[in-house]
Amino acid sequence: MDTIYVHGGVPLHGEVRVSGTKNGSLALLASALLVPDETVIENLPDVADIGTMVEILRTLGAKCDFLGPRTLRINASELTSCEAPEELVRRMRASFYVAGPLLARCGMGCVPRPGGCVIGSRPIDYHLTGFRALGAEVVEEHGFVVARAARLYGGQVFLDPRYRSVGATVNIMMAAVLADGTTLIENASRDPDVVQCARFLNACGARITGIGGAAMRVTGVDRLHGARFAAAPDRMEAGTFLMAAAATRGDVSVRGARATDLMQLLDALRQAGCDIEIGRNAVRLRLSGRPRPFDVVTAPFPGFPTDLHPPTVVLQALASGRSIMEETIFEARFNYADELSRMGARIHIKGNTAITTGIPKLSGAPVVATDLRAGAALALAGLAAEGETEINGAEHLDRGYENFVGKLRELGADVVRRAEGGARLNYVYSR
Ligand code: EPZ
Repeated sequence: MDTIYVHGGVPLHGEVRVSGTKNGSLALLASALLVPDETVIENLPDVADIGTMVEILRTLGAKCDFLGPRTLRINASELTSCEAPEELVRRMRASFYVAGPLLARCGMGCVPRPGGCVIGSRPIDYHLTGFRALGAEVVEEHGFVVARAARLYGGQVFLDPRYRSVGATVNIMMAAVLADGTTLIENASRDPDVVQCARFLNACGARITGIGGAAMRVTGVDRLHGARFAAAPDRMEAGTFLMAAAATRGDVSVRGARATDLMQLLDALRQAGCDIEIGRNAVRLRLSGRPRPFDVVTAPFPGFPTDLHPPTVVLQALASGRSIMEETIFEARFNYADELSRMGARIHIKGNTAITTGIPKLSGAPVVATDLRAGAALALAGLAAEGETEINGAEHLDRGYENFVGKLRELGADVVRRAEGGARLNYVYSR
């Protein structure tokens, strides 16, 4: 495991540029499988998960060439397989996104059932119900999901309004764009990553309306054509850097941050006493003292994003009072709490709620990152803590944060990374 060493107490200052959206880019890459032509996706983040998805596309027969570190040309004219490799699907849950396109393009998709992870069981029942509503026969055998349909037909899909599943909306939408007839997806996700994917598909000739609304309508077409498309900035990375500025009582401009995608976070940070300045293509945050206590309930977009829950609790742990974090999306999102407690945080978990009593200072300690967002939270805690924090499991960060250590160092953080048994490196790109 790689390790990140942080010496805390340094207020972050300066400007940091956000990379392309990790989750949104995974949906774009999967969607490119639907296009029997050349597509070009720009502003991809240089993170491990993108590399995994490109490997999967290649095993399915799509030609993928990087025209630059963040621009990928894909040609999915000839798909040679309709089976996603188990080793890659196990590595990344979002690999299941290829199921919808394979079903639509090849009449069959054979994808290993993605496992759960540290944040929850992560079922896929909404995806499978949606495929069946389009006329597919879906069976699960030997750990694989096999979906078959000589032809897909438009249908009506009702997603759970509590969750407005991001993944299910994307997968069903992708299957529906080549179906015969019109599909209605009720309680569709309104997440910016989903909106982006729909816009990309429309740029390729799909007919999707109601994008970003509660009910998405997809009218099937015979064939899609190529397009060039740029991924939006990653709002989770933007939010993480804004909170790093707050946790260290700094002054940071996050270039590329889209305030419209982060309204709930910005409201919470204002409640915490942060001074927020919204520019044309950046958000600036300043905080000179301790955060004030503030309460958060996570919810599907436009609600407070669950992926920013762990870093937010770091701010609550430093606040001048007691704060609430209620998690409504994932049943096991609290695995970061024990590690933060090792740094002195006073967090009490009760059901799906964390009740945190703020303290003036966290103290550096050896901790272990268990997932991508927990790793980000521990890094923020280390930046704010007194002394050195050693974060093991830095690879988790590589999945979704491009050059995380390098960007923090550009803001003045005293942070280095050491590969397992190797020399100390200031930062490590994902590839
Ligand atoms: C996406 O996961 C993101 N991943 C997650 O980001 C993000 O936290 C989540 O959406 C937010 O909703 C990618 O985009 C690759 P969901 P996804 O379907 O699509 C339940 C990160 O750190 N559910 O919206 O898997 C599910 O258990 C990751 O970047 C079912 O019950 O999430 C959860 O409780 C973590 N059945 C809720 O819905 C299903 O078939 C929301 O899940 C599907 C989901």
